[in-house]
Amino acid sequence: MRTPIIAGNWKMHKTVGEAVETCRKLEEVVTDSPVEVVVCAPFTSLSALSALGMEKVQLGAQNMFYADQGAYTGEISGQMLVDTGCSYVILGHSERREIFGEDDELINKKVLKALELGLRPILCVGETLSQRKAGETEEVVVSQTAKALSGVAAEQLPQVVIAYEPIWAIGTGENSTPEDANRVIGLIRSKLAELYDGELAGQVRIQYGGSVKPENIAGFMQQPEIDGALVGGASLAVEDFAAIIDYQR
Ligand code: 13P
Repeated sequence: MRTPIIAGNWKMHKTVGEAVETCRKLEEVVTDSPVEVVVCAPFTSLSALSALGMEKVQLGAQNMFYADQGAYTGEISGQMLVDTGCSYVILGHSERREIFGEDDELINKKVLKALELGLRPILCVGETLSQRKAGETEEVVVSQTAKALSGVAAEQLPQVVIAYEPIWAIGTGENSTPEDANRVIGLIRSKLAELYDGELAGQVRIQYGGSVKPENIAGFMQQPEIDGALVGGASLAVEDFAAIIDYQR
């Protein structure tokens, strides 16, 4: 049985004060659920959130660099994230790929470093609208998955969380149907089975992301291949994010 994982990706939102207030409230309103809850906050808020000593909410970052230290102005190392109390780090988000030019090779280096440090990567994969229209969805997500995981040892694989985020569904209000997201996630899992084996592939949690809201979360969670969600906009407001986490109630 895979433990469902629902993560909020706050992107570039919230000051330290706003982040602390949001997480304090979240700890109060989230019921003890069987779902693992993660908040991926901007770097600037991580220490303050860690100091809250949250019990129901785990901390994640939204990016890191693969080097241990050095002359990399503006970058943050994985060790720095561990030091601030992060358990997770989002890697390969489509906004990093598209706006900041990250490619599969760079993402792979980050994945390997995160795993070496005991940080769990939330690896994002997903196709653009034109790729979808051209029938390339499977090829794109399977290739992104395989390249990002190159060199990941079998025993490390269950530490990886994959988020299938079709780019056309991010922040657009358009979402994939639960059935289609389930189909694509099934293809990703089949690739994992081919690269590793069926048993290991069956242990990896694969989320759906893209315009997830309180009104549509249950439909996604009912699908057998979907193990959670990576939530952008709707994770910013406590009421909405709590409703998504407590989707079974
Ligand atoms: P939205 O939920 O705002 O569509 O964002 C999804 C996303 O990019 C999460 O990483």
